[in-house]
Amino acid sequence: MQDLRIEAASLAVQELYHAAVATRENSYSPYSHFAVGAAVRTAAGKIYGGCNIENASYGLCCCGERNAIFAAVGAGERQLTALCVVADTSAPVSPCGACRQVMSEFNINEIILGNLKGDLKICTLADLLPYGFAL
Ligand code: THU
Repeated sequence: MQDLRIEAASLAVQELYHAAVATRENSYSPYSHFAVGAAVRTAAGKIYGGCNIENASYGLCCCGERNAIFAAVGAGERQLTALCVVADTSAPVSPCGACRQVMSEFNINEIILGNLKGDLKICTLADLLPYGFAL
């Protein structure tokens, strides 16, 4: 895992980060008041965003990371290379276990965790989900 600042990141990482920050603006989080934005990049370089969407029936809430991945896969994309997730946290936000499992399903190998201050942590899937479940 590598810690770095947004200014020091590659242009590809910066682009994905800014897409995640922009999509976070659409977060529907009236219960937790914790807005999350995510963005995934396809092998062809296309970017899909997602944000967390909550529900009065709390168990139906869905995370930003999964919504970004599902937007891409629902649009027919299967080759996903990188994902960035951001929230307004003091350190880069860390994805929940369910989202890690979904990242694993689509083999997303570069995962960028961030916060609104521009602190980043660049991880691999193995960093986040060692010995994960697979069929
Ligand atoms: N949340 C995410 O969007 N991603 C995560 O990895 C963890 C949590 C959302 C779910 C819920 O809407 C809010 O953050 C508080 O848990």
